[in-house]
Order: sequence, then C-alpha cells, then structure tokens
Amino acid sequence: MERSWWKEAVVYQIYPRSFMDSNADGIGDLKGITSRLDYLQELGIDVIWLSPVYQSPNDDNGYDISDYRAIMEEFGTMADFDEMLAGIHARGMKLVMDLVVNHTSDEHAWFVESRKSRENPYRDYYIWREGKDGGAPNNWGSWFSGSAWQYDARTDMYYLHLFSKKQPDLNWDNPKVREEVFSMMNWWCEKGIDGFRMDVISLISKKPGLPDGAVAPGALYGDSGCANGPHVHEYLQEMNRAVLSRYDLMTVGECAGVTVEEAKKYASLNGKELNMVFQFEHVELCDGPLGKWTDRRVDLKAFKQVMSKWQTELAGKAWNSLFLENHDQPRSVSRFGNDAPKYREVCAKMLATCLHMMQGTPYVYQGEELGMTNCPFQTLEDFRDIESINAFQELTQSGKAAPEEIMGYLRLRGRDNARTPMQWDDSENAGFTTGTPWIMVNPNYRQINAKTELADPNSVFHYYQKLIALRKQEEIIVHGAYALLEPDSGSLYVYTRILENQKLLVICNFTKEEVPYRVPEEYADAKVLIGNYERSWVQGNITLKPYEALVLKCG
Ligand code: GLC
Ligand code: CA
Repeated sequence: MERSWWKEAVVYQIYPRSFMDSNADGIGDLKGITSRLDYLQELGIDVIWLSPVYQSPNDDNGYDISDYRAIMEEFGTMADFDEMLAGIHARGMKLVMDLVVNHTSDEHAWFVESRKSRENPYRDYYIWREGKDGGAPNNWGSWFSGSAWQYDARTDMYYLHLFSKKQPDLNWDNPKVREEVFSMMNWWCEKGIDGFRMDVISLISKKPGLPDGAVAPGALYGDSGCANGPHVHEYLQEMNRAVLSRYDLMTVGECAGVTVEEAKKYASLNGKELNMVFQFEHVELCDGPLGKWTDRRVDLKAFKQVMSKWQTELAGKAWNSLFLENHDQPRSVSRFGNDAPKYREVCAKMLATCLHMMQGTPYVYQGEELGMTNCPFQTLEDFRDIESINAFQELTQSGKAAPEEIMGYLRLRGRDNARTPMQWDDSENAGFTTGTPWIMVNPNYRQINAKTELADPNSVFHYYQKLIALRKQEEIIVHGAYALLEPDSGSLYVYTRILENQKLLVICNFTKEEVPYRVPEEYADAKVLIGNYERSWVQGNITLKPYEALVLKCG
C-alpha cells in the first residue's frame, strides 16, 4: 500500500457564507474563517475544503462564478485570502479550493461575450443550439427545475444550463475552454493552495448530438444523461498532465451518477486522474417519485449494502471518500439518526463512529462535529436556496404535490438545513454575527454550540476530536481491509477492519432500542478503542444501548 498525506487526512468543509461573520453584515467571510482557525486546529483536522469564495452574483451561493481569479466582495479581498491561507499553513493544515468549471455565471466575461453574436470568438465556450419545433433543442431538465435550456433573443438560440439559467454550461469539447480552465488552476496552485474539490465534474462531457433523455414517471423533463460522458476521462487526464501532476495536491471529484466501475477510472490508484470521488448512492437511497423530495427514511440494510459495496469494490484499486453531510445535504443526525434531545448526542457520535472507522478519507461538514440538526423552517420565506424555492414552485404549480406536503419535504431534505449559521456560542445569533444573519439561525443554538461543547469532555466535539486522533495513531483505520458482518440485521451495522495481525470490530446500533449481540470468539481479548457509552464488559453476549457505538481492537 502506498502512503499519501491525503489518504491519512481528515477534511473539514467550510461553507463560508455561514461559518463566521467578522464585520456584522450577517454574511460569513474570510476574516471570520481566519479568526476560527484555532478551533479547527483543536479539532485536529488536516485539510479545509472551502466552498466557493470567488466573485459571483450569488444565484447559487457562489457556485455561479463570474471571475475565477477574484474574491467575492462580501467575503473580503485577495489580501484576506492570503492571510487566511498563511494562517492555515502556519497551523500545519492545508487548503482545498472548490473548482466550479462545469459552468460559469452568466455574468462571467466569457458568457457576456458569448451571447453577443453567433460569430463572437467566445461563442463556442458555451453550448448554443437552435430551438426545435418552437421549443427547446431537447427535453433535458435542469437540476433546479424547469428546462435545461434558456432562449436568448439576441441571437435567437438557446444555451444549455444543467443548473440555474444563470449557470450556463461550458463547452469542454472546445480545447480553448480546457486551456483557460487549466491555466486558472495553475494560477491558484502557484498561490500555494493544496488541492481542488471539483464541482459536478462528472457532467463536463456532454453526449454527442445532445439526444433527448428518458423521462422518469412523474417528471416534467428528461434526464440529460450527461454523467460520465464519452470524453470525461480524457479531459481529466489532460487536466492531470497540465496541472495536477505538477503539484502535491489532493483532488476529489463530485461525481453525480458515478458507478463503482466509473469511480475506478476517476480515482484509480495509478494517479492519472483524481485522488478520489464523492459518490451519492448512500444519500440517494430513499429518493422517491419526486426525486429527493420525500419523507422516506433510509433503510439500514440498503445503506449497509451500498457502503459495503464501495468499501470492498474499490479496495486496492481506487480511494474512497467518506461523508454523510455537506452543504447540499440535510443534517445527518436528523436524517440517519434521531435528533430528539434524549438521543441526539449519542446518535451523532454513533454515526461518526460508523463513518470514521471505514476505509477512505473522511469529511466533516461544519457543525457536524457539534451534532447540529435540521432547522425548523416555517414558511417558504425562511428558505434561501434556489433549489428548494424552484422545486416548491414547480411541484405546486404542476399539481404534483400540495403546498403543505412539499413544505414538509423541504424541511427534511432542503439544502438550507446545512446552511444555517455555525453555532459558536449561546449569545444572540449563536455568535455567528452581531448583525442580521442572511438565513435564520437554528433556534436550538442555546443548547447546541461550540462553546458549551468545548467545555464538556463528553461532548460530540470531543468525540470527533478523539476519532480524528485515532486515525493518526492506528494505521489499521487508514489501511485495514473492510468486511461486513450481520448483513441481515435491520438494527446493527457491524463490520471489521483487518491489517496483518490487527483486527477492529465496529458495532453500531442504529435504533433507539436495546439490541443483543454476540461478540465473536476471536475478539475475546479485545480492548475498547472508542465507544459512546461507558462500558467495561465486551465479551460474549452483550446488549447494545440505544444508538450505541463500540469499537474493539485486537493485536
Ligand atoms: C454541486 C454543488 C451544489 C451546486 C451545484 C451546481 O452539486 O455542490 O451546491 O448547487 O453543484 O454548481
Ligand atoms: Ca461579513
């Protein structure tokens, strides 16, 4: 097995708008991040993944970039960025930037030029097509509702936008686009950043001829089928030669629609493309007829099966990333566990144990280390996210769901659950801002906040700190082979990790009931490595407490 810093690292994701506000305008910013670096160092993480901080009109909170080489005014200046980067490096941490290059903002200079005329030198930087039968060129739907095509009267053509109409897709088949992107990436690498998280990178190569996609039952538009397109690996290998291989970077591709087979290409250990991918199977398991808008809960057996498939099938071939949360997902303790006050803490620790003992590089999303929960949004006015707001409109107008029904789904699955301000302390606005926050603060901040947890040795924060430290002490957590036990249990997630003569047994109770379990003979001499309850007896027949997590180690 080959060692690399990014295999041994734990990553912490910062969503800058919601992390820390330094100037009372209600919006998190770079100086705010710099002021909290000691907190991250205390947690013990190695790498920060920073969601986009580039100049942007903020149609999708920075995922619509109008200048890749400038900092969004609301977030500060390039000098603030340099200071933050120096602060990160001074603490022995690294910085991974978000790279959003499937699309730009419609306010990016390239697109401003591109839409001017059919002959403009930047026309082919984007994907323009004639309309068909008085409508869009094909039936593709946008991820943010509606058609994926926007008519532009100036040249009487349509442009493609797989996300909002202010996020036109770049034409990666144009070599000039690739060159521009690579030179921008090199520019950031020369500044000293340590890697890239690549936004929807699996979508960059569109299907030749842009054929109609299949329309799922109940959907208004067709699926673009753009994931893992015909040239995606070729373009990433080109990027690797032009940029990635020239620096010591960590790279992770956000790969919507990725399969195990495709992941082996994107993240092959041969190093020709990326270090690892984010796959989404485990967070899409309970999707229903309205896609992610559902109140279904994840079935534990299915969850185990998906996680185990990625663990075992990538082994020795590609590297896994491990996550339950990010800025697009609801809070994990609410979604996979139980956020009732009685169970929230043990449950957050259990989920953390289950994930952090697996093979791969773990990602902690801001506030996850505190056990932050979903937010009790009341009305549509409480939401800020374009995806939620558009979905509400499309689903209610088309009569597919009643307003109250869809509101219920937004509360459970909306991305704003992850975007409420970081809960620093129990002062007004959770210590995030002294102004008016851009999105509501979760009212539970008086109970759940960093200050309280730092003072409590049994807090979720200190449990994460311990898990992160263990990964540094125990090679087996990084490199051990994974195997699932008890696949048919609907209550327990049990797995082992094995490295030479060492063995780990990880037992997690996903229910609020007590569950009996027989520890296998071979763990008779095992010691408790970590657990979320006090426990002295760990042999033979044991009874797991509600949401108990227990890790035993032999050898
Ligand atoms: C990715 C981002 C998400 C964004 C979308 C479009 O999925 O994680 O936040 O809305 O891409 O850029
Ligand atoms: Ca601010």
